[in-house]
Amino acid sequence: MSILQIVKYGNPVLTRKAEEITNLDKYIEELAQNMVETMYAAPGIGLAAPQVNESKRLITVDLSVGEDTQNLIILINPELISQEGEVVYEEGCLSVPDISEKVVRPSRVIVKGIDLKGNEKIVEAEGLLARALCHEIDHINGKLFIDHLSLLKKSLIRKKLKRAIQASKI
Ligand code: NI
Repeated sequence: MSILQIVKYGNPVLTRKAEEITNLDKYIEELAQNMVETMYAAPGIGLAAPQVNESKRLITVDLSVGEDTQNLIILINPELISQEGEVVYEEGCLSVPDISEKVVRPSRVIVKGIDLKGNEKIVEAEGLLARALCHEIDHINGKLFIDHLSLLKKSLIRKKLKRAIQASKI
């Protein structure tokens, strides 16, 4: 297993709709394992394949960040099949460093996907888990959490991120 590099805001892979996974091969299995390790090392509670420069519909979530691996969810081709309620809570992203903002998310969701063995998996989630799943599913649809904010807020954040990216290149 290895820790992968997490791509940051500005990389076009983050705004692209990721491709559906049609073949559950060794490559996907290794990618998933590397994503889990990368998520734990970051540390983060969720990661989507585009964040490691792989435009594929694959996400990992673990609210315990590896403390209790029973919490680990690996989903291939995840889809939000139902949602209800609304909660506002502070959110951040490993690809959008040093920014956190309040984002409205559903309070309960049902997500359908495929596990690494190729079996259909239904995840019913609420609270932070529901939020994390929505955040990661957004990633594979080319959407970042800042895309949920007002245009004014988004443009202020964009300027801040551009300055930070330019500064890091010097
Ligand atoms: Ni993210």
